[in-house]
Amino acid sequence: MKLSGKVAAITGAARGIGKACAKRFLDDGVKVVISDVDAEGLAKAAAELGHPEALRTVVGNVAKRADVDQLVATAVKEFGRLDIMVNNAGVARNRDILEISEDEFDEIIGINLKGAFFGVQAAAKQMIAQGGGGVIINMSSVNALLAIPALATYAMSKGGMKQLTSVAAVALAPHNIRVVAVGPGTILTDMVASSIYTSEDARKTVMSRTPAGRGGEPSEVASVVAFLASDDASYITGQTIYPDGGRLILNYTVPVKDK
Ligand SMILES: NC(=O)c1ccc[n+]([C@@H]2O[C@H](COP(=O)([O-])OP(=O)(O)OC[C@H]3O[C@@H](n4cnc5c(N)ncnc54)[C@H](O)[C@@H]3O)[C@@H](O)[C@H]2O)c1
Repeated sequence: MKLSGKVAAITGAARGIGKACAKRFLDDGVKVVISDVDAEGLAKAAAELGHPEALRTVVGNVAKRADVDQLVATAVKEFGRLDIMVNNAGVARNRDILEISEDEFDEIIGINLKGAFFGVQAAAKQMIAQGGGGVIINMSSVNALLAIPALATYAMSKGGMKQLTSVAAVALAPHNIRVVAVGPGTILTDMVASSIYTSEDARKTVMSRTPAGRGGEPSEVASVVAFLASDDASYITGQTIYPDGGRLILNYTVPVKDK
């Protein structure tokens, strides 16, 4: 119960990784405000998560600054402060790079990168106002480093998030605020079902690049988030930690006789 009594806000928490982070925090004694653009899903998630004394919801779109500000304001109004911000909301579109429209580019970058930037700003302003300290965690991806051609907008957004994390960590270090990112590999959520596992072949391709031989569970990302949010990670800032089943370190090549 290293996080007991802390106050956290999580975006995109109606399902998947965000919801798993909310569950982990609630189990660890954290007071949590969850937000999502999907009002119905958010209400359902809140009912499933339980802990009504320690859980609040706010419907909001992270691409709108006012909605992200509202999330932080709710944490302060309901629980008096904000210690942990998890900028988790994100979307992926599977598309040939030549077919990406300006609207789609703006949509993905607006949610994944601009939304996280709004979250960093809103959380940091509150943390500084309450005397400093706190942890901001951005939900990145192995796609911050990997280049998968069908996920160009997604990769650009997560690549940008890597630098958002680094630059914010340096800027906010004087206020004792740590800024870190978590970059999962393939985690078994609705996002993967709709955008990554688009066919059995696609699933097999991902598995052929995953030494662990299986997709990850959302709880296996939430446990990394809980560690980074805790004082056990007190000397980690500016880094992205990758729970990816060995995906990024894999550099296996089949021996080739003729060069
Ligand atoms: N699942 C994976 O394999 C994987 C891997 C690496 C990174 N991630 C990242 O983890 C995060 C969560 O992904 P997930 O797999 O749980 O996805 P998911 O699709 O299951 O859940 C995403 C949630 O974000 C919400 N959301 C979407 N747009 C929003 C917006 N504009 N404002 C507020 N909420 C919004 C959705 O309604 C949904 O509840 C994302 O940032 C994603 O990029 C996921």
